[in-house]
Amino acid sequence: MRILLDTADLEKIEYFNLHYPIEGVTTNPTILAKEGGDVVELLHKIRAIIGEDKELHVQVTEKTFERIVREAEAIVAAFGKNTFVKIPATDVGLRATKYLSDKGIGVTVTAVLTAAQGMLASNSGASYVAPYISRSENLCADGVGTVADIAEIFSKSNAKTQILAASFKTAKEVLDVAVAGCHAATIGSTIMQMLITHTTTDTSIAGFDRDWREAFGEESLLERLEKKA
Ligand code: E4P
Repeated sequence: MRILLDTADLEKIEYFNLHYPIEGVTTNPTILAKEGGDVVELLHKIRAIIGEDKELHVQVTEKTFERIVREAEAIVAAFGKNTFVKIPATDVGLRATKYLSDKGIGVTVTAVLTAAQGMLASNSGASYVAPYISRSENLCADGVGTVADIAEIFSKSNAKTQILAASFKTAKEVLDVAVAGCHAATIGSTIMQMLITHTTTDTSIAGFDRDWREAFGEESLLERLEKKA
């Protein structure tokens, strides 16, 4: 499952983009509001960090069909190829998705809470649907199950639309959607860190270090190899 970063924090984007196989960055109005300042400049900086080949998903803020379409076209014009316009899964959103997809603009239908919304978004030509996992599970609904249903529907209908799961609160949710057949997940830096670290990995390494030092002292294997080379 491909991983994107769900943040507009430039330092975090720089770090994970440099050291991990991150496929892009997703934002939404709340994520951008957290950073504040000149939002257009911020999005340009994100694009500059990830380069033109990775995906940048930017959400529309307009509410009417005409203005969503205008905003979507302006977003793609500003941030170039591999920019996807995030449009919420509403009546006007799905209409705009069909119109923009027909024109060749990549749309990520976001705030998807049901498999039905995912199916309609795909039928409307969306490149991605973004089911919200924790927002769903917080309401005692089955967010991971929704991803599994969408994956099955897409597979049975040979849909080109991909699932970009979003809104994670635990590392396990990320793993669960991967098992459920999700194509991609967008995750914040905290969850990213949770996926990377494990206390037992750390205590295991501490044990290896202790045993090495007891047997061989402070000299590492590298230092010993270089001495003999
Ligand atoms: C994707 O980009 C979504 O907007 C985002 O993951 C929502 O996450 P939240 O539910 O943590 O706000």
